[in-house]
Amino acid sequence: MYSITPVNSDVAYIGGSDRRLALFENAYPLENGMAYNSYLIRDEKTALMDTVDRSIESLFRENLVKALDGRDLDYIIVQHMEPDHCATLGMVLSMYPNARVVGTMQVKRMVSQFYGIDITDRFDAVKEGQELSLGAHTLKFITAPFVHWPEVMMTYDIHDKALYSADAFGMFGALSGNIFADETDMWTAHLDEARRYYTNIVGRYGKNVQNVLKKAAGLDIDMICPLHGPVIRSDLAFYIDKYDKWSSYTPEENTVLIAYGSIYGGTENAADVLAGMLAQRGVKNIRMYDVSKTHYSYIVAEAFRCSKIVFASPTQDSLLFTEMEAAICAIRAKGLTNRTVALIENGTWNPSAAKHMRELLEPLGMNILDLDVSIKSTPAADDLEKLSAMADALANA
Ligand SMILES: Cc1cc2nc3c(=O)[nH]c(=O)nc-3n(C[C@H](O)[C@H](O)[C@H](O)COP(=O)(O)O)c2cc1C
Ligand SMILES: [Fe+2]
Ligand SMILES: [Fe+2]
Repeated sequence: MYSITPVNSDVAYIGGSDRRLALFENAYPLENGMAYNSYLIRDEKTALMDTVDRSIESLFRENLVKALDGRDLDYIIVQHMEPDHCATLGMVLSMYPNARVVGTMQVKRMVSQFYGIDITDRFDAVKEGQELSLGAHTLKFITAPFVHWPEVMMTYDIHDKALYSADAFGMFGALSGNIFADETDMWTAHLDEARRYYTNIVGRYGKNVQNVLKKAAGLDIDMICPLHGPVIRSDLAFYIDKYDKWSSYTPEENTVLIAYGSIYGGTENAADVLAGMLAQRGVKNIRMYDVSKTHYSYIVAEAFRCSKIVFASPTQDSLLFTEMEAAICAIRAKGLTNRTVALIENGTWNPSAAKHMRELLEPLGMNILDLDVSIKSTPAADDLEKLSAMADALANA
């Protein structure tokens, strides 16, 4: 049975959610599933704003047929060719053979690469700023390369003052009937998941997001319709400010993230000692995570949020604790910068983890303090002095 939610009198939400999925992109743990949004604009012409993931194919087909109510589909606007949005494109192409596909140049090649379908004779490539009239609604296309893939574009509906933002302004998590952020606790309970989604999925492409934000600043926007997560009708400035911070690698809070790995507890003990020292120096909201327990995607998100980061790792096979290496590599992949970093290493015979952490982090141009603490198995008296010096430097940085 279909499940459609009106966005307004002309626009219908025809997406859905997959609550069974454990890992988004087979990598990111989901606490409560994932939403795949799709919208249908019904004007003199009809336009479908992207399709959905394969997991909700049958619901989507029923939604589309019902929302069209016997009308033909004129346009399929393809803003993003990642399969979480276009896995059902082939189905729609064969259901509505008259529909023209609208997207940036690369879309045609990607449709062929993924699905072996040649759309040459039904494809309209759009360029920056190009408009498409549906009747009352005029769509204006805004290229958004690498927000999240090279072919991405966003679409501004001049009539509704609505920005269809592709993956941007999306988040992890299923929708539960309420498709609008103002009907949920989006700004309290869900902001962490919005941050984890942005930083892990789009985080590397901060410069590209900044470029799009500059273009969006010239638009009068009442509503943001992303491809994941709720539709945003209120607090737009708050959310856009978050995107501005995340994409410019600007910390949200002056506080310390401590990410540690530990096999037997020695490194964990050092991390706890340091955290206590930081608290006594007035640092608030210190966040500590065991990298074996906490998936790296949460550590990436917290690294974007906090201004200072401590990495504490045992030496393993003359290198790093593997889980710590994964967390640091994930942060490095996102190009995070503008952070003050301190390093703690541990080793029973030849501690060398700090050297490797430094090598991994150096390309990011962060301020890595020259105050490494090198522990031999468990923190000793002189380590306390060094941890204290580290706490001073971090509290004052
Ligand atoms: C698989 C494995 C490999 C290790 N490799 C090294 C090493 O190359 N150099 C070293 O000094 N210690 C090595 N160690 C020892 C740990 O780094 C050391 O015991 C450390 O104190 C553990 O810290 P923890 O108490 O926080 O787990 C290794 C330990 C394990 C389990
Ligand atoms: Fe994507
Ligand atoms: Fe997506």
